[in-house]
Amino acid sequence: VIAPAGPAAARIATLWWILLVVGGLIWLGVVALLGVGLWRRRRAGEDAGAEDPPPPVLRSGDEHGGLPGRPLNWVVGGGVAMPVVVLIGVYALTLGTMRAIPNRGSDEVVIDVIGHQFWWEVRYPNQAIVTANEIHIPAGEPVTLRLTSADVIHSFWVPELHGKLDLNPGLTNHLMLQADQPGEYRGQCAEFCGVQHAGMALLVIADTRADFDAWVAQQQQPALPPTDEIAIQGQQVLLGSSCVYCHTVAGTNATGTLGPDLTHLASRRTLAAATVANTRGHLAGWIIDPQAIKPGNKMPPTNLSATELLALLAYLETLH
Ligand code: CUA
Repeated sequence: VIAPAGPAAARIATLWWILLVVGGLIWLGVVALLGVGLWRRRRAGEDAGAEDPPPPVLRSGDEHGGLPGRPLNWVVGGGVAMPVVVLIGVYALTLGTMRAIPNRGSDEVVIDVIGHQFWWEVRYPNQAIVTANEIHIPAGEPVTLRLTSADVIHSFWVPELHGKLDLNPGLTNHLMLQADQPGEYRGQCAEFCGVQHAGMALLVIADTRADFDAWVAQQQQPALPPTDEIAIQGQQVLLGSSCVYCHTVAGTNATGTLGPDLTHLASRRTLAAATVANTRGHLAGWIIDPQAIKPGNKMPPTNLSATELLALLAYLETLH
């Protein structure tokens, strides 16, 4: 949060630092006043010749803690006037920050992000791309995110790039996302949404314009038919199993929409919403026993022989 990598996060970080300094100064002032009060008490006791100062006794007419002078001024000034002034100032700064951050970016790169228990569906309607858990954007350009949910309330939060914004079922929230430099920025669901809330992460990958255009061109292709024999067998395993009821591989009969689109699975860096790296071992473990990797997620285990599993892995690895 305090190492911002985009304009929205930078403004939020600036506001955060101001709030920290203001809050810190007020805290120091309160502690200093408390110290002065205690010190005066002690000195008053010593002047009276006692070894230990007597405990403070509230008398009528002295109900404000015994500070000499005009106690009512401290109560009204410190307890009423100052908080009103400080809170109005902080409120104005916060409103100014909110106004300075637009909630829409370009009309060219519009990205629909749909929350699911416990993963992110990612669609680029203008480019006809469907992917999951990974959002590619061109660095240095503001893009528009449209956030909604397929089930419960989730919250989209990429701390280095922006604040949090909820994904509500039946409602669409807009967010301008921009990364100043190419890089990988981790995001996290920030609204408790069920047992795997903490396991609902994502990656925002900011590419150079050329890399982004190449990625778009790649993702627009349907899955190429497998050519080597083991991958051909693997495709038969996939199309003949229950995988097809939940997953899509564009260009095949697998057209399920309950789980992530697998058309370009091998091009993604992680599995299970950034829970594990996308390696052959993790992929095998995920297919056979997904509950061991991410307990409570919605994917059932798949019973496959060793031969079937190896063929399926070979096929899935062709889905670049
Ligand atoms: Cu989705 Cu928390």
